[in-house]
Amino acid sequence: MIRRRMPAAQQLSHVYPLGSRVNDRGVLEVGGCDLVELAREFGTPCYVVAEDDVRRRARAFMEAFAARTDDFEVVFASKAFPCTAVYRLLWEEGIGCDVAGGGELAMALAAGVDPARIHLHGNAKSLGELRAARAAGVGDVIVDNLRDIELLEALVAQDGGPPQHVSLRVAPGISPETHPAISTGGPNTKFGFDLAHAPAGIERIQASGALELGALHLHIGSQILDLEPFRAALQALAALGADVPAYNLGGGLGVAYLEHDRPPTIEEYVAMKVDAVHDIIGPGKRVLDEPGRALVANAGVTLYEVQTIKRNVETYVAVDGGMSDNLRPMLYNARYEVDVASRPGGGTRCHVVGKHCESGDILVRDADLADPRPGDILVTPATGAYGHAMANTYNGALRPPVVFASGGDARLVVRRDTYEDLLARDV
Ligand code: LLP
Repeated sequence: MIRRRMPAAQQLSHVYPLGSRVNDRGVLEVGGCDLVELAREFGTPCYVVAEDDVRRRARAFMEAFAARTDDFEVVFASKAFPCTAVYRLLWEEGIGCDVAGGGELAMALAAGVDPARIHLHGNAKSLGELRAARAAGVGDVIVDNLRDIELLEALVAQDGGPPQHVSLRVAPGISPETHPAISTGGPNTKFGFDLAHAPAGIERIQASGALELGALHLHIGSQILDLEPFRAALQALAALGADVPAYNLGGGLGVAYLEHDRPPTIEEYVAMKVDAVHDIIGPGKRVLDEPGRALVANAGVTLYEVQTIKRNVETYVAVDGGMSDNLRPMLYNARYEVDVASRPGGGTRCHVVGKHCESGDILVRDADLADPRPGDILVTPATGAYGHAMANTYNGALRPPVVFASGGDARLVVRRDTYEDLLARDV
């Protein structure tokens, strides 16, 4: 048997989960598990999550905050990876969550997250979602608009319970450098109160016996690599002159998708945010943060099997997934690395394409793979955030399972869709 090893100079890219390596058989290993064996056991496509990687990043957030302030809350923006196993894992690390609506709320509750540590978001919350949050005892509703205020007041009057703790989301008029589709805090956005309307919203809540204003909130966008705009955003909030006990600075820390990407570290990001609150607002304020991507993106990889290779003008390596399990290349021109799991490294220039009936279904354009062949297992790293979250059944695709890998053991936490699932909603 020929043993292949990566040339000494060719280190495994840092975008793979912490602890990933090439094993003695020359195969990529994540969470101590051989990826070719995982593909055989769980099928493809398949999301594999290195549990320890998520825990390490969760602890990095908690420790970075604890080193700077004793009044903070790290909140998982669960839209990045909404499944009960992930909610539970982060809850075990002391991290509650924000939910983008009733569906994520149901998942967070099912996972056992303390409702008091759940934050409900949404720019178009329905009465039903607000009622569900109230009934569950959700600790914080992030008010996005006046309608949220009216509905919550009515609900509190109806149930006769204690006032609802809320935050008010402000769009600070700051646009960080990121893809326009994931920039959310600019001067003309659908999210939150703009600076002109925020004072009226704040007054309205402070005058309400049914609501208690706990925090001002901002979230300027996602996949942010330059931290400076957070400071400007907070300055805009400070200029509102409201007296609130806490500041929620949203999420947004960018991650490395490609080898040469060097995003700020969790430590740098947290330091910048806590320092900004101390410098701009002053001491004695609670600081909340809502990381999504930075907790889970690099913990996850996706496995595919190569189905065909077509040598047209260029070479197309077609796999058994695509835009049904990773929409990010199509929506945001996101770039990913890719390797043959059993032959990491390069040599053959090609496009890794999905199985869907659209020419835009390209997972990795201009990839560099080591002599890809049908039957090979391909792995795309850094797919832990917004992959499973945005998966869909286009072309009758069966959404992939989620497998947690740790210390050489793998366990299924979300099963693959079945054809019966595709028919299950028909009446
Ligand atoms: N807080 C709020 C209010 C948010 O809307 C978001 C993300 C976050 C926190 C977390 O942001 P993160 O730390 O993950 O950057 N589907 C897109 C990302 C959309 C993000 C939406 N909001 C993608 O795949 O890049």
